[in-house]
Amino acid sequence: MSKHVLVTGGAGYIGSHTVVALVEKGYTPIIVDDFRNATEVALNGLTEILGFQPTIHRVDVCQIDEMRAIFNEYSFHGIIHFAAYKAVGESVEKPLQYYQNNLVGLLNMLSLMEEFKVLNFVFSSSCTVYGEPKETKEVHEETPKSLPESPYGYTKWIGEQIILDFFKSAPDFHLMNLRYFNPVGAHPTAKIGEFPLGKPNNLLPFVTQTAIGKQACLTVFGDDYPTRDGSCVRDYIHVMDLAEAHVQAIQFLEKQEKGCLEAVNIGTGTGTTVLEVIHVFEKVSNQQLNYQIGPRRAGDVIEIYANATKSQELLNWKAKRSIEDAVRDAWNWELALNELK
Ligand code: WQD
Repeated sequence: MSKHVLVTGGAGYIGSHTVVALVEKGYTPIIVDDFRNATEVALNGLTEILGFQPTIHRVDVCQIDEMRAIFNEYSFHGIIHFAAYKAVGESVEKPLQYYQNNLVGLLNMLSLMEEFKVLNFVFSSSCTVYGEPKETKEVHEETPKSLPESPYGYTKWIGEQIILDFFKSAPDFHLMNLRYFNPVGAHPTAKIGEFPLGKPNNLLPFVTQTAIGKQACLTVFGDDYPTRDGSCVRDYIHVMDLAEAHVQAIQFLEKQEKGCLEAVNIGTGTGTTVLEVIHVFEKVSNQQLNYQIGPRRAGDVIEIYANATKSQELLNWKAKRSIEDAVRDAWNWELALNELK
């Protein structure tokens, strides 16, 4: 009997790629998504890749009664909780939406997990919980957390605190906070990928949309930072590597004899600047990108990348794909989207 894994936000960017990785490892993903940040394009792409339409419930995770009905329908082996808002810049403009949606959704998941004794839980956390790293820019899981630089970062920081307090009250659960760095790229078939509704907040979709003509010009938010070329440094992780990390997290948790709570960085361990991403794109796509230098963006951290040791030691996982692979897959996805018109 295949193990059912609840994937909230499973029609979204990281969620849909994780659904593919789960099926590849013999799990049965059950998607819950209210499509506020996803479209039928993801569902159609998933169906083409999988050869069947995955089970999906169009429900808002903040509606606990509707979520309880789903927990009554399945005997979940585990939960991967993606459903949340995730744009740093946008969260500075809309803090109340971010706190309400991201925290109520998490609280509902933990309450239902306890009510239905679903032991294995993976939380979609973020490197933003580290804030602006004080000493080294390479952060490991025990790096002292500075306060986050954005409301989005706070929803993950508080989220991890909620999970810690829950674990102290219910120590038999197997819990893992995966702290993503910057997810980028798309499935190599170009049938699923990042699908920003409206103007993209994140760098790489803005690059590819500028290149395809959907956006007029990319603005680099500052080139006067104390970094090797003046632009911010991030750890860009291919979304397929990230998806596979979630499956290995579930495989780790289901093996545990007793309760546990672990935080794990999911990054490549390498930092790349904004300008370097642009240059990789120009090389991969063999075309010039139209960009300008603009003012810094509120909430931005200057430089951060992962110490990726623990993910390898604990989960036997490490990133296999390069920034070139991610940029190429992101560009192929943009080109495929353009054909859909
Ligand atoms: C990256 C860099 C911008 C757009 C992301 C996710 C968040 C979390 C952490 C997982 C910054 C610059 C961007 C543009 C630019 N990941 N930029 N022009 O802010 O690091 O946060 O990673 O939880 O969910 O949002 O990502 O792609 O917005 O920015 O110059 O048009 O690119 O200033 O330096 P960020 P981002």
